[in-house]
Amino acid sequence: MKSHLIPLLVVASLVVAGCADGSSNNRKAAATCEGTQVQPERLFLQQLGSNSVVIKWRGNADSGAEADSVCFGTDMAALPAESQTEATVTATGHSEVLLSGLEPATTYYYSVGGAGTADAAHSFRTAPAAGELPEDGNTRIWIVGDSGVGGTGKPEAGFVRDGFTTFARNNGDEPADLFLMLGDNAYDQGTDLEHQRAIFDVYPEILASTPLWPTIGNHEMGTFGISVDTSPDDYAVIGSGSNGGPDPAPDSPMPYLNIFTLPTDGEIGGLASGTEQYYSFDYANVHIVSLDSQLAIRDTDSRAAMLQWLKDDLSANALDWTIVIFHHPPYTKGSHDSDIELAGIDQPIFAIREEFTPVFEQYGVDLAYAGHSHIYERSYYLNGHTGLSDTFDPATMAELNDAGAPSSGQGAEAYTQIARNGTDDKVVYTVAGNGGKLSGTSQGYPHPAHFLSQLQLGSVVIDLDAERLEASFVDVNGAVLDSFVITR
Ligand SMILES: [Fe+2]
Ligand SMILES: [Fe+2]
Repeated sequence: MKSHLIPLLVVASLVVAGCADGSSNNRKAAATCEGTQVQPERLFLQQLGSNSVVIKWRGNADSGAEADSVCFGTDMAALPAESQTEATVTATGHSEVLLSGLEPATTYYYSVGGAGTADAAHSFRTAPAAGELPEDGNTRIWIVGDSGVGGTGKPEAGFVRDGFTTFARNNGDEPADLFLMLGDNAYDQGTDLEHQRAIFDVYPEILASTPLWPTIGNHEMGTFGISVDTSPDDYAVIGSGSNGGPDPAPDSPMPYLNIFTLPTDGEIGGLASGTEQYYSFDYANVHIVSLDSQLAIRDTDSRAAMLQWLKDDLSANALDWTIVIFHHPPYTKGSHDSDIELAGIDQPIFAIREEFTPVFEQYGVDLAYAGHSHIYERSYYLNGHTGLSDTFDPATMAELNDAGAPSSGQGAEAYTQIARNGTDDKVVYTVAGNGGKLSGTSQGYPHPAHFLSQLQLGSVVIDLDAERLEASFVDVNGAVLDSFVITR
C-alpha cells in the first residue's frame, strides 16, 4: 500500500504546482469558494447546452437568507473561488445565474449559496458538442403531460415519476438527459403556488440535475383552463385564490413565463423565435421544438408568425431526429374529442391538425407529443390526416405493412425515417396527458388513427442514437406498455 500512496501524493502536488499562478514558490491549491450551501424551495436547470446552463432558484427551505450566488466546478470537493457567480433577481423573486464558457459533455457540480464543495445531487452534464452523440451514445428524453396535480392527497404525478425512475434504473441505469412537460403543468390555474406544489415539490431531485423544457397548456392561463385569450397579459385567476391566487409580484401576469427562462434567440440552437411562448433547441443529434398551442395559435397573425417560424426553423435543421411538443392533440378520443370544437376552447386542436401537421410532415418531423386528454394514445406512422376521425383512410394516410394494414412500429414493422415512398414525410403522434390523472374517453373511442389507446397513468421515454429511436410508454411500475422504433 505504501508504495502506491507515495507516488500518488507526488503526482497530486505536481498537478497543484502546475495550476498555480506562475510564481515558482506558490505551491498552495487554488482558493475555493467560502459561502454556505442553501437548499432553495425551488431549484431547477434551464437552457442546458454544450457550453452553458441557467440555474434558477427561489426561497430557502431552512427559512434562512436567500442564496445570492453559485459556485461550480468539475471537482465536487473543491469549487474554485473564481467560479463564484452572482445571481440576478427577477421581479417575482427568482434568482438566476447563467454559467457560460463550459466544456461540452462534461459533468459540473454546483453549490447554490457558493460553498466550496458540492454533492452529486447538485450536478449537471453539459450537452455534447453540436451534432455529436453523448459519450454513452444514447440520449434519453423523459416526457410527462398534464402532470400538474400536485398538492396534498394528489400523489399520482409522484407515482408516474417513480415509474420512470424504476424504468431508468432497469434500462441502462441511465437518468434522463432532458425533461419535457406537455402543458397543464400546474392545476388548476397555473398560479405560482400551484407550480410549486405540482413541479418543484414533486421532481426536486430530477430538476436539480436535468434541464426542464416545458410547453403551455390551457391551465397555464388560469381560469380553470377555459381561457381563449391570446396574450399572456390576459392571465386571470377565477375565484378568491383558493389555489394560491395570482402572483404576489408579477413581472408579467403569467406565472409560467415568470418562472421559466426559455430561449428567444436560438441560444441553444434552433432559430430565434423572439418569444418564450414557443422556441426550439438542439441536444446532441436531436432538434426539439415547443409550440404555443394555447395563446399564439388563437390569433390569426400570431399563428401565421409561429407557423412561418416553424417552417424556417425546420428548414434550417439538419440534425438526425426532430421532435415537436405542444399541448392540444390533433387526434384524440380521450377526455377531449378532436372531432368537437368545444366552445372555442379546443379550437387549437383543429388549428394544429389542419395547419401544423402538414408542416410537420413536409419538414421532416419524426415525433409529435401533446397532452390535454388525460390518456395515452399513440398513432400509426401518419401523413395527410387533416380531417375529422371519420375521414381517416389508413390506405393513404398510414405506413402499411406487407399485408396492407397499418404498421405497428414494433418488431419487423419498425418504422424507417425514409418511408416506403422514399421521403421523410411521416410522423408518429402521441397523446401523453396521463402524467398525473386519468379522465375518461369520448364518443367514438378509440380514435382510428391510433395504434394503441390506453387509459392508464404513465409517461414517455425516448432513447435515441444516430441510427435508432425507441419511444416507450412507461407505467407507474416502470413497465413498458407500448413502444415503437424508428430507424434511419
Ligand atoms: Fe389537462
Ligand atoms: Fe389541457
